[in-house]
Amino acid sequence: MSFIRVQGLKSLQGKIEIQGSKNAVLPVLAAALLHKGVVVLKNVPRIQDVFCMLEILKALGCRYWFEGHELTLDTRDLCSYEVPREEGRQMRSSVMLLGPLLGRLHRAWTCYPGGCVIGKRPIDLHLYALGRLGAEIQLEEEGIFVSGDALTGADVHLLFPSVGATENVLMAAAAARGTTRIFGAAREPEIQTLCHFLNALGAGIGGIGTGTLIVEGGRAFQDVEFTIPGDRIVAGTYLGAVMAAGGDICLAGVLADHMKETLDIVRKTGCQVEWTGNEIRALMKERPLPIQISTGPYPEFSTDLQSVMLSVAAVAQGDSQIQENVFEERFATGKELQKLGTRIIIEDRIAYVTGSYPLKGGEVCALDLRGGAALTVAGLAAEGESRVRGCCYICRGYEDICRDLSAVGARISMEEG
Ligand code: EPZ
Repeated sequence: MSFIRVQGLKSLQGKIEIQGSKNAVLPVLAAALLHKGVVVLKNVPRIQDVFCMLEILKALGCRYWFEGHELTLDTRDLCSYEVPREEGRQMRSSVMLLGPLLGRLHRAWTCYPGGCVIGKRPIDLHLYALGRLGAEIQLEEEGIFVSGDALTGADVHLLFPSVGATENVLMAAAAARGTTRIFGAAREPEIQTLCHFLNALGAGIGGIGTGTLIVEGGRAFQDVEFTIPGDRIVAGTYLGAVMAAGGDICLAGVLADHMKETLDIVRKTGCQVEWTGNEIRALMKERPLPIQISTGPYPEFSTDLQSVMLSVAAVAQGDSQIQENVFEERFATGKELQKLGTRIIIEDRIAYVTGSYPLKGGEVCALDLRGGAALTVAGLAAEGESRVRGCCYICRGYEDICRDLSAVGARISMEEG
């Protein structure tokens, strides 16, 4: 089994090229099924979730060529509407294939997307939204079958701005006849990227970036070339690294505009931040100041950086509070951080963290993708050697966290043992 070995207490200096966004490319890959043609995607991250999605698309009849970070996807021979069980179970994002398969083939089947360690993650909002467009929903023993020969635009009111539900209904609405208005839509940058991709294909989506999206459906689609933006969560992870370890780093290839809420918190820890178009520079001379964070749907602070900020709070000059409002079980990493000497009390949805420095090196285990990245960040601020097991989780979303952190001088490597 592989693990990440980190020698802590070395400050970071240098530049990291930020990979393409996992949470942007996955819905774009699904949306490409709407078009019977060829799309070329640039800046595609070589991460496990992308490889898994490509295996699903291949099983559905698509062909692809993935060289470096450029992906060519040919969907002309799409012939199956059934998401393969093995891959479908591996990745929750398979549920977002329902919308495009329904739009292209008028039917779709996928296994129930597992919950995971961060929460139950139901899909009631996805099914409600597809039902509003006229889809028939059949809950079978092993999965969900949705069908509809004539999807029709309608008003959709999302009671919670679910990212996945917004993506699913956007894709189905692009294929539906007439106009769909989505109220209470998620506003994440990844939703905006999906809207821009769909419009490049030929869809007619307005209100991009707001909570009300208007989709003129049923238009013809065309081949398109599209570039995936940098991953704001990976960039936020590395900002966490320099906040915890100290130093002076530059992150290239990420839009600071998509990270305002993150950069506000980063500044409040005493980290000096400046940015140009798609480069962010972060200078951290002291231990971080204590933080008060409450996560929420965009533009609030991202739940995906909550675990990383636990690691930053663990070495802060005082007591921090971090409230998790999106997922009901997203503090598992806190228990692992206690093995590195952190004092964390979790009550309801709030983590109370008492900062101390340095942490003490030890062996910890990743329980989810972002938690694994957070434990790696904590190792940078721990005395001696730390080992982070459960790298399979980290590889789902980080192309090469060891390569990236080594580029700024961290003593880190992935090893077997
Ligand atoms: C997306 O997950 C992201 N994943 C998550 O990133 C991210 O944490 C999340 O959005 C929130 O920003 C991808 O984009 C692939 P949601 P998603 O639907 O779509 C509840 C990472 O680490 N809900 O916005 O599953 C749900 O239980 C991952 O990269 C319902 O109740 O998130 C949760 O509490 C982790 N019913 C909340 O909404 C539904 O039908 C947010 O879920 C759907 C969701």
